[in-house]
Amino acid sequence: AASFGLNLTNIQGDILIGMKKNKELFFFFKIQDATAFKSHLGANILPLITTTTQILSNSPQLTTLVNIAFSQKGLSALGVTDNLGDTLFFSGQLNGSSSFNDQLSNWVPQFAGSDIDGVLLLASDTVDNVDSTLSTIQSSINGSISEVYRIQGAARPGDQQGHEHFGFMDGISNPTISGFAAPALPGTIVHPGQAVVAPGIILVGEQGDPSLSSRPAWALDGSFLAFRQLQQRVPEFNKYLLDNALSEPNFTVQENADLLGARMMGRWKSGAPIDLTPLADDPVLANDPNRNNNFNYTHPTFDIKSDQTHCPFSAHIRKTNPRADLAAGFNNHIIRAGIPYGPEVTSDEASASASSTDPTLERGLAFVAYQSSISTGFAFLQKAWASNANFHTVLHLLIHIIPFLSRLLQLGKWHDHFTGKCARTDCHSSFFFFLCLFKIDYSTGEDPIIGVAAGDGPRHPSGLDPQNSTRVMTIEQDFVVSRGGEYFFSPSLLALQNTLSV
Ligand code: HEM
Repeated sequence: AASFGLNLTNIQGDILIGMKKNKELFFFFKIQDATAFKSHLGANILPLITTTTQILSNSPQLTTLVNIAFSQKGLSALGVTDNLGDTLFFSGQLNGSSSFNDQLSNWVPQFAGSDIDGVLLLASDTVDNVDSTLSTIQSSINGSISEVYRIQGAARPGDQQGHEHFGFMDGISNPTISGFAAPALPGTIVHPGQAVVAPGIILVGEQGDPSLSSRPAWALDGSFLAFRQLQQRVPEFNKYLLDNALSEPNFTVQENADLLGARMMGRWKSGAPIDLTPLADDPVLANDPNRNNNFNYTHPTFDIKSDQTHCPFSAHIRKTNPRADLAAGFNNHIIRAGIPYGPEVTSDEASASASSTDPTLERGLAFVAYQSSISTGFAFLQKAWASNANFHTVLHLLIHIIPFLSRLLQLGKWHDHFTGKCARTDCHSSFFFFLCLFKIDYSTGEDPIIGVAAGDGPRHPSGLDPQNSTRVMTIEQDFVVSRGGEYFFSPSLLALQNTLSV
């Protein structure tokens, strides 16, 4: 079913297409007895691990899907001494937390501790199924691991199914890998607009893996799982939208609030992309997989380097996947497989006080991202793009400097640059190119959903107001708060069998 020799029965099922069940438990564990655990891993857990092939077969026997992944501490506890070649994984998420501007005081103590050796992911239609599979595993492995922490993820109820807690449809845009698509397998169909990346961008050891030469052989077909518990302050988000509703003529206040939310996200709550439908939601478009991802921010009569009438540069989905904004392409892709956790907003919370202060009502996203390199995947998206107020300024400079330098090197042609056009309205020719270099005033601000300013200060996204694209908005509060997480390695089934359980 694949070129590049992809062996789908060797790849854990969550990585390429997600386990996609309404309930998912993240069971974080510590290894208590490594020798005993190794033999149980091979004898009792491995037979339960759900492969990519099994998910694609959609077999009714698959009641509860099971995947497993290990932190660096867990691999060390199992006596694995090979370096997997990913420095962020090696040092663990806690050590890099300050680079995300995370406030450690917000971290769940278990993530801030040093006990998490691994995580079991159990997905099913009901919590009962999940619990019964967990007890089967626990009784068979005889105390060789112990629970450190758990997060019960659950799809939201009713018509909110598939939507994250702010209300936006999630799970629409994920890249796929080349060689995976096979007409006979519906889960692998490539939809228009979907990114197709080299297998090694997601799978360790495959073609396109940026660290191919430094991987131990057994790591082939594994993937790094970046886990984050991201709390969402839903009442605060909704209040901000209403308090700062835009001023589109003939819109009600609520419609202007919805428009602001859509421009922060880059999609309407239905999932319809604002790049295709900037001023009104379009649920039919949202539900059409052949159209709902088929956009790249270019429009025939608009200039992609300055146009924000369709979608702001700061919008969450444009920050995290700039599509044609980066004409040269990029490898900073992740496959997301998270699920919401926590209860629905109560009527008390939704009322005037608009605050999520009750810890028993914490809600958010159990965020899961797969990639072959955490520093070019999750960490890059979060730091270099989402939290970087100057993202597009940097791009803009690169767009000029690279061709300029390359032309300088080809001496005779250097002057070509001077006929090259910078599409920015204030920079039509190379004469203005130099001015442009010194005029770094073009800041997009942070991602209004997940960006975090240095020192956790206010964020200043621009481009959100279609009436005034240079207007900068101030967001004092984070709507998404990192409660911490860990980096894991989700090994292949062969690695579980031949390396980790012996
Ligand atoms: C897309 C919400 C955290 C990366 C989306 C979408 C929503 C969303 C509603 C649009 C649906 C889709 O295109 O599939 C959220 C919320 C978050 C969160 C509420 C936190 C609570 C993150 C984080 C990252 C991230 C931490 C990475 C650092 C992405 C990417 C896309 C996306 C790459 C796809 C963009 C595209 O291809 O167009 N997110 N997200 N998200 N998000 Fe997030």
